[in-house]
Amino acid sequence: MTHSKIIGTGASVPEKVLTNSDLEEFLDTSDEWISTRTGIKERRVSVNESAVDLSEGAANEAIKAAGLTPDDIDLIIVGTVTPDMSFPSTACFLQERLGVRPSVPAFDVSAACSGFLFALDTADKYIVSGAAEKVLVVGVDIFSRIVDWKDRATCVLFGDGAGAVVLSKSSDKGEGLLSSNIHSDGSLWRSLFAPGATAYNPFKPDSGEDTNPYVQMHGGETFKLAVKTIAAACNEALMAAGLKSEDVSILIPHQANERIITAVAKRLGLTDSQVCINIDRYGNTSAGSIPIALDEVVRGGRVKSGDILLFVSFGGGLTWASTLVKW
Ligand code: COA
Repeated sequence: MTHSKIIGTGASVPEKVLTNSDLEEFLDTSDEWISTRTGIKERRVSVNESAVDLSEGAANEAIKAAGLTPDDIDLIIVGTVTPDMSFPSTACFLQERLGVRPSVPAFDVSAACSGFLFALDTADKYIVSGAAEKVLVVGVDIFSRIVDWKDRATCVLFGDGAGAVVLSKSSDKGEGLLSSNIHSDGSLWRSLFAPGATAYNPFKPDSGEDTNPYVQMHGGETFKLAVKTIAAACNEALMAAGLKSEDVSILIPHQANERIITAVAKRLGLTDSQVCINIDRYGNTSAGSIPIALDEVVRGGRVKSGDILLFVSFGGGLTWASTLVKW
């Protein structure tokens, strides 16, 4: 039976660094509050970079690391909720930028902070079914464009960035994606959402309804849901592959809050060295967070052949996902 495996990774973040001290200059907040509640010290925000610019940087690195050229790619899937335009998709823009062959399908997947793992799961299904062999999977978000920079409860949490992998067909059953699980519960959408441009209805201008287009979140409720759901998603991936938490070489979780990550690690009995945390430098980059962290551990030499990597995400929708990979 055909399996899929990651053969290249890449990442790209905007140049501009926005520190907690920078935020103190225009918000009623403090480095102390943000650091102790979230673990974030700074984040990147896009000034000149678009979603396709960041995607292109990450994708080029991943294709190069895989030893391929854009000609080899036969499917592009981008996880994002902050595309440059409503349409075309970021994936179509990326196809043009990279020079990937015309007629190769390219589409976006919308699952907020779970966008990358939803895209990876879709790519895996294409490969396993025989419909694709080399898939470019990107997670990218530019939340600096959809948060309200006057709302200290949300804007301090997010940052911008992109990560990418090339997922390839493999016939070695013992390697690559061992288990991939995606889930949603639409009844919980009110915990975390961003109405965007659709909040405004020109035919109902005086309806009095809330037309705040920005990210809105019930922080405490989201925190509790995240810990419970992420821990369960990790166990689901491990059980499906017949493995235990002690078998995990590195947990690469969505970077939403350092306290969420350490609470999950504690529940699973993981040590600090088994967990990847880079939220201090990037904040929550939504769909970008897992592939950026993956690229960091791969390029940093932290991943060896045969290692077990566990990816887990949680985000608006609500959506959550987990993927277990043998490297
Ligand atoms: N700076 C200073 N004070 C702030 C602040 C900021 N940036 N943001 C909120 N506050 C204030 C609030 O106004 C509130 O004040 P009040 O008690 O006077 O009303 C107080 O801080 C809330 O503090 P606390 O209850 O200790 O916050 P918390 O421990 O729940 O932490 C979050 C808040 C947002 C960091 C936390 O709830 C969280 O991370 N939730 C999950 C978010 C998440 O993961 N989202 C993405 C999922 S993909």
